[in-house]
Amino acid sequence: MDLFNKIAANRGPLGSHSHYAHGYFTFPKLEGEIKPRMIFRGKEVLTWSLNNYLGLANHPEVRQADVDGAAQYGMALPMGARIMSGNSNLHEQLESELADFIKKPDVMLLNFGYQGVVSIIDAIVNRHDAIVYDAESHACIIDGVRLHQGKRFVYPHNNIENLEKQLERAKRLTDETGGGILVITEGVFGMSGNMGKLQEIIALKEKYEFRLFVDDAHGFGTMGATGAGTGEEQGVQDGIDLYFSTFAKSMASIGAFVGGEETVIEYLRYNMRSQIFAKSLPMPLVVGALKRLELLRTKPELKDNLWTVVRALQTGLREKGFNLGTTQSPVTPVFLNGEISDATQITFDLRENYGIFCSIVVYPVVPKGVIMLRLIPTAMHTLADVDETIRAFEAMAEKLDKGLYSKSQVPAE
Ligand SMILES: Cc1ncc(COP(=O)(O)O)c(C=O)c1O
Repeated sequence: MDLFNKIAANRGPLGSHSHYAHGYFTFPKLEGEIKPRMIFRGKEVLTWSLNNYLGLANHPEVRQADVDGAAQYGMALPMGARIMSGNSNLHEQLESELADFIKKPDVMLLNFGYQGVVSIIDAIVNRHDAIVYDAESHACIIDGVRLHQGKRFVYPHNNIENLEKQLERAKRLTDETGGGILVITEGVFGMSGNMGKLQEIIALKEKYEFRLFVDDAHGFGTMGATGAGTGEEQGVQDGIDLYFSTFAKSMASIGAFVGGEETVIEYLRYNMRSQIFAKSLPMPLVVGALKRLELLRTKPELKDNLWTVVRALQTGLREKGFNLGTTQSPVTPVFLNGEISDATQITFDLRENYGIFCSIVVYPVVPKGVIMLRLIPTAMHTLADVDETIRAFEAMAEKLDKGLYSKSQVPAE
């Protein structure tokens, strides 16, 4: 049997929609400068789907730093993996500035968030150890856990009672194997916008011996008094043993980092396969990240603007009766009842007739019969953008209630 035969029969949960979705619902092209209004298929749309929380992507100082970094160093430098020939003073400076900012003794840069998380988990546990993790964790956590050769225990999302049960099971096991326990959660969950219950989780450390790894991709820059993330927001940064964030959200770039105590970060530097066996972050990205971090630290008005937009959007939508679940962060999910065909029609209508571009999430990410529209506010949006969006959502909800979307055809490409 040809290995590829099964691909024709089963294109996967997302791939099975590609024949009508590609280029419109999936792989859309947003063109022009990164700002709230961008061009989609030749028309201007108000965009709510870019994780450019603080609006740094197109900040003039950031753009200049990116240009200067590329002009001075090119994209090739440094050559090789950090451990071999790819280290630089600027890489170390960025690590040290990040460590100061998140109040951890040491930080290690990572080339990508996804690979970084997978590889941190792989490096930090062995077959004697147990992992306990939140069921709604990002794919990078799930995939890191999949590499684990020991036992894993999953708890329902943010269910601390159940977490405790899993910790009891993990403890029984590790008492036998002589291993330790790693608990993994997100700081801000990227789909629901819920914060991980870091305070409650950390309180359990008194009873169960474990280490806590927090993926704060959506919390870094958006949460906490200084923007240092969800640990700062909840006053428990010290209780986080490994703090991770990507540069792909608030920092509007590529790359990531992990912070923790010196011996552990040193261990990761010498044992993380995704870093040891991969080329170092190019210099322009490091120069650009230094500038982004400087602005994130010194311009609190960016986070203030973000939260003004977040509050207006979330309060406005709730006042109109929309169900935003239990978000506690800028991530703004809007839950509607409907089928995948409704979801495509809604997205099409919002984009074509109201000029609103947001992402849709359908089964299997949310239960069957539920549609989630996901809005990501940024510091660059205005209150007028918010009003326009709420009016469009009201009109859309009325059509959905009347069953008008189900009667239309899925738009052909
Ligand atoms: C929670 C979370 N962790 C990790 C990642 C992966 O980061 P990166 O895009 O840098 O690979 C993402 C998405 O970007 C994310 O949302």
